[in-house]
Amino acid sequence: RTRTAVLISGRGSNMTVLVEAAKAADYPAEIALVLSNRPEAAGLAYAAGQRIPTLALDHRAYPDRGSFDAALDGALREAGIELVVLAGFMRILTPGFVEAWAGRMINIHPSLLPLFRGTHTHEQALAAGVRVHGCSVHYVVPELDAGPIVAQAAVPVLPGDDADALAARVLVQEHRLYPAALAMIASGRARLEGGRVILAEAARDAGGA
Ligand code: GAR
Repeated sequence: RTRTAVLISGRGSNMTVLVEAAKAADYPAEIALVLSNRPEAAGLAYAAGQRIPTLALDHRAYPDRGSFDAALDGALREAGIELVVLAGFMRILTPGFVEAWAGRMINIHPSLLPLFRGTHTHEQALAAGVRVHGCSVHYVVPELDAGPIVAQAAVPVLPGDDADALAARVLVQEHRLYPAALAMIASGRARLEGGRVILAEAARDAGGA
């Protein structure tokens, strides 16, 4: 099983569904570490209660991004991590760190990329007037929210939606998509080659909505 670290900054609901999925004996990834840049993140207590090793690396204790990312890299290597999963991790990572984990680090983003990068994606979708919205799992590259897409799931935008209603509808799909996408990668059914995602035949059905 692929030794996987899940990086969070807050609530950690995506992390909890990954932990649940990884309890199945035939799931190809093992959640070997849950790490947060915020010591008060609610998800850390959940993970500790599940007897998963946890680590808080408070970014405020480091003088700059480079030194924080060096500490992060050291912690991941120390734990023998093979795959890094960002799940609501709200820190921009330095290009050096991203390059060091190229092809071995994924993120979930609450929009149908390449639309609506950055923050406030549900507000962005409502402002744009799109009728379909969703979430994307992508490999991480130095440019924010720009990496090759592994899987996506779509939801309708309904009359009367506000950002919270839309976020809740998308989150249901995030919780379905992320465990499926992680399984595809950890089992080798999806991989990065020459900057593109290669899907095995068997992964086609699991690839999204
Ligand atoms: C999720 O909706 C995730 O897609 C989003 O933050 C939320 C975290 O929720 N991530 C980003 O916006 C990344 N830029 P969670 O902590 O409950 O998983």
